[in-house]
Amino acid sequence: MKAVEVIDDVYWVGAIDHNVRNFHGFSYTTKHGTTYNAYLVIGEKIALVDAVFGPFAEEMFDRISQVIDISEIDYMIANHAEMDHSGAVPDVLEKVPNAKLVCSKRAVDALKKHYPDGWDIKVVGTGDEIDLGGKTLRFYEAPMLHWPESMFTYYVEEEVLMPNDAFGQHYATGKRFADEVDEYVLWKEAEKYYANILWPLSRQVERKIEEVLELGLPIKIIAPSHGLIWRKDPLKIVKKYLAWAKGEDLEDNVIIAWDTMWQSTTKMARAIAEGIESEGLIPILHLIPTSDRSDIMAELLKAKGLLVGSSTLHNEALPTIAAVLSDLEVLKPKGKKGAAFGSYGWGGGAVEKIQQAMENGGMDVVMEPFTAKWVPSSEELQAAYDFGEEFAKRVK
Ligand code: FEO
Repeated sequence: MKAVEVIDDVYWVGAIDHNVRNFHGFSYTTKHGTTYNAYLVIGEKIALVDAVFGPFAEEMFDRISQVIDISEIDYMIANHAEMDHSGAVPDVLEKVPNAKLVCSKRAVDALKKHYPDGWDIKVVGTGDEIDLGGKTLRFYEAPMLHWPESMFTYYVEEEVLMPNDAFGQHYATGKRFADEVDEYVLWKEAEKYYANILWPLSRQVERKIEEVLELGLPIKIIAPSHGLIWRKDPLKIVKKYLAWAKGEDLEDNVIIAWDTMWQSTTKMARAIAEGIESEGLIPILHLIPTSDRSDIMAELLKAKGLLVGSSTLHNEALPTIAAVLSDLEVLKPKGKKGAAFGSYGWGGGAVEKIQQAMENGGMDVVMEPFTAKWVPSSEELQAAYDFGEEFAKRVK
C-alpha cells in the first residue's frame, strides 16, 4: 500500500500489521490485526507525527520516501512513548540526526529509559505550538490516554487532531478511512479497544474530552495511531467515548459468563438465562473456556449487567474464571450491575470470590449470590430462573 494523502500536505505513512493476534501480552486478542499510524505534515518544515513499532520501521521509511526525502524531516513528534509508536523513533533519528525530537515533559524520562540518550529534545506542553511555515502544530497533554506522558497533536489550519491511542481501533485493512470499511466491524473494534485499554481510565477520558470540547476546537479529521481515520462525522467517536466513559450507550443485554466442572453450573446458567429472557432482556451466554475474554469485556461495555458463575474448586472459583475476575479488577467496569452464581460440594467459596472481584472492580452487586449444592434439583433450577428474572428487573 502506498502512502495515503489524508488532507492537503498530510500523509499517512504508517504500517499495517495484519498478523498480530494479541496486544499487551495476551490480555487483548486482535483478530483483525492492527496498524501503527504515522503522519507526515508538510510545510516549509516537515514533521513526522509518531513513528511505528520497531520491526515495521522499513515499511514506514518506504512510505515516507514516496512523499519526501527522509532527510527533510525537521521534527520527530512522539505523542506517546509506548513502543508500538516510539519503536522506530531511534531509526528516524539515526537517519535524520538533525531532526528535533518533540515530546511532553513526562515523555522525556520514558523515552530516555527506552532508548539511548543524546537526542535533541524539544519539550512541549498544552498550548505550545510549532510553526512549520504557514502550518501550525499545537500540542495538548493528555495524561493517561493512554500513558501519563501521552499528548495530542493538532494541525491548526486544517483542523486535524492526531490523538495517538485515543479513538483508535485494532483493525488492519487496505483502507485508511473509517467511512471505507465495514461499519459493524469498525465499531465493534472501537468498542473492544475502549473496553480493553481505556475503560479503567474513564475518568481521565471524560475530563480530557470535556476539556477539549470546552475549548471549542474545530475538528475536521481525527487521525489516531491505530486503525482507521475518522473524516466523516469525526465527533461521533468522541461522543461515543464520552458515553462509554459515563456508562451510557447500553443495549438490552445481560452477559452470563461461567465455567463448570460437572455441568451443574451450566444448568444454572441456562435457567438464569431463561429468567432474564422472560423480562425482555437478551442473555449473552459465554462458557468461558470456549469464549474470548477480551470480546466479553467489549460486550460488557454495552451490556446492562453481568452474571459470573463457577463451580467451586478447593474453595475457589475455577482457574478459567479467575482470569475473568482479574479482568474485572483491572478494567474496572464501574457501576455495571452484577451478581454471582455457582454450584459447590462440601464447601463453597467460588461465589464469594466472584462477588469480591466485582466489588473490587467497582461494580454494583445488586443481588446476593445464587448457589446450589452438588446437582441442582428441579426446585433449584426454578429458583435459578427466578434469580435471572429478578436480576433482569433490577438492571432494567
Ligand atoms: Fe498504542 Fe499505548 O500504545
